[in-house]
Amino acid sequence: MDSTTLALLAPRGVERIIQGQATSDGAGVRMTRLLTQDLQRRLDPFLMLDLFGTDNPGDYIGGFPDHPHRGFETITYMLQGRMRHRDSVGNNGLLVPGAVQWMSAGRGVIHSEMPEQLEGAMEGFQLWLNLPGREKMRQPWYRDIPSAEVPEWQGEGVLARVIAGQAHGVAGAVQRAATAPLYLDLHLQPGAVFGQPLPAPHNAFVVVYRGELSVAGTVVRTRRMAILANSPGSDGVVLRGGEAGARALLVAGQPLKEPIAQYGPFVMNTQQEIFQAVHDFNAGRLA
Ligand code: CO
Repeated sequence: MDSTTLALLAPRGVERIIQGQATSDGAGVRMTRLLTQDLQRRLDPFLMLDLFGTDNPGDYIGGFPDHPHRGFETITYMLQGRMRHRDSVGNNGLLVPGAVQWMSAGRGVIHSEMPEQLEGAMEGFQLWLNLPGREKMRQPWYRDIPSAEVPEWQGEGVLARVIAGQAHGVAGAVQRAATAPLYLDLHLQPGAVFGQPLPAPHNAFVVVYRGELSVAGTVVRTRRMAILANSPGSDGVVLRGGEAGARALLVAGQPLKEPIAQYGPFVMNTQQEIFQAVHDFNAGRLA
């Protein structure tokens, strides 16, 4: 045991391993949906997680032309490739490897996310984080976080990039009061160990995107998502890098426990609010 695990006496285990579903979105972008709609209640406050990763331009070149969002936040994290964001609020940003884009759609945004390359690899994640009902109709908010501005913590054989929340005293780039999201990108050397305190009621999952790691004796392989058990009395999670090491996301958050009404890119609390969102979009009131 070392300093990264010392404080954890009752770490969580894995409840379930998710393989994800091949899907396509936008103008034919092929991706793997790891957090699907049937897991929204289980992983509240998270609504969706897509992993895109391909060397084939045909899988991504169409990008995501103009489309609306209302009622939640989108967090895009790039590993490889270049993607241009433009939105109806006037924001314009280029996502490059290691950079994060955090967009809170609030009452409404129309945006496009288009590849700015004709060949080469494109790899990254898009996570959807819900907003509490009282914040769904707020003004939109947007931030580009360049790679150099993502706070990092370094331990023995471990690099943690702290996108949101807090790890080993390092505050992440974004904090949210209602959902208390934790979003870490972890690079583990072979056999390296990383511990992270997690309140037992917070829903949490790990996504491995290179190598493999183990959680309380359960091996999690590349491109798999492990849902962590909310065992009463548990105090966190301990991840151990496999023989070739691992790169993985650790994501956790405080559940909102509100009704979830989703119609495509609109996520509200009631069907009535969904009708209103569609009506507002059709009337040009989201731009
Ligand atoms: Co979008």
